[in-house]
Amino acid sequence: MIVLGIETSCDECSFALVRDGREIISHVVVSQVDFHKPYDGVVPEIASRKHIELITPVFKRCMEQASLHDVSIADIGGIGVTTHPGLAGSLIVGLNYAKALAFALDVPLVGVNHIFAHLYAPQLEREIEYPYMGLLVSGGHTMITKVNDYNDIEVLGASIDDACGEAFDKVAKHYGMGYPGGKVIDDLAANGNPHAYNFPFSNLYKSAEKYDISYSGLKNAAINQTDKFWDGSSQRSIENLCASFQRVAIDSLLKKLEAAAEDCGIRRIVAGGGVAANSYLRRRLASRPEYRVYFPSMELCTDNGAMIAGIAHRHIENREIDDLNLSVSSRVRGFRRI
Ligand code: KG4
Ligand code: ZN
Repeated sequence: MIVLGIETSCDECSFALVRDGREIISHVVVSQVDFHKPYDGVVPEIASRKHIELITPVFKRCMEQASLHDVSIADIGGIGVTTHPGLAGSLIVGLNYAKALAFALDVPLVGVNHIFAHLYAPQLEREIEYPYMGLLVSGGHTMITKVNDYNDIEVLGASIDDACGEAFDKVAKHYGMGYPGGKVIDDLAANGNPHAYNFPFSNLYKSAEKYDISYSGLKNAAINQTDKFWDGSSQRSIENLCASFQRVAIDSLLKKLEAAAEDCGIRRIVAGGGVAANSYLRRRLASRPEYRVYFPSMELCTDNGAMIAGIAHRHIENREIDDLNLSVSSRVRGFRRI
């Protein structure tokens, strides 16, 4: 079966056709980043208006790519669309498009949890046995999870304040480095000393919060208290600041992830979300021979329609299908919190 995946939860407008939950036939991702850059962050009203402009051209381009593989609109056997979490106005654009197509083509429709889809993404490239630890790090969410199946995820820990990517974006915004900040900091950090600033690690010790993480202290230190944490021996530079911030942001996260993996007795780790593109995170995890670590390719790390089509296929084959009354939610839901 060929499933169409539609993703419009934030500032990417994306469509993909995926055969049997794995083989990507066509995939188009259009980023709106240039429209949000002047504001150093995503402006929800601009995002939803741009999705309205982009959605038909992006769908058409996806079908043009598919025609090169002799696949046409008549071959679509089901539709998956992100319904939560995300920006409500942007989600509505994708959902209404999906409903119209599902009605016109008379095919099943599935509302997809965006976070479940991120943690499913590497399955499009190779089969990974369940359960695995799922690290979801994006601009909106930071979660340490146990993924029991494509539709069964337990949240073990999460950020109690800023999301990891959000902390990168806010530090970059403060120093006028550009948007999105994660990639800029990653690039600048390559030439910096990661120990020039001894920024504070996230300290949440209480047992109920064992795997939770906080980024506001680190963010505040990197923005307002650099003197206090500067080692004094190296030359001050923005590269040193980026490298030091990145080291602590990622190492705090990995400390929690490794503790959770140890306690669950699970050695497989899947990382997803925009921050999973971070080169330091990839290097650090790759250097741990005791874990089998799976990163999606860069294309499948950030928001994309292929991961939506892939997981929607699993839902459809298990008859987990929605009706045309389906609605969106900006909230995270559908998880078991333990
Ligand atoms: O998953 P995503 O594309 O969108 C959502 O937030 O859902 O993630 C975007 C986030 C932004 O905060 C961006 O700064 C961050 O991912 N990011 C990175 C890198 N590339 C993107 N953070 C750290 N290092 C990177 N190389
Ligand atoms: Zn995302």
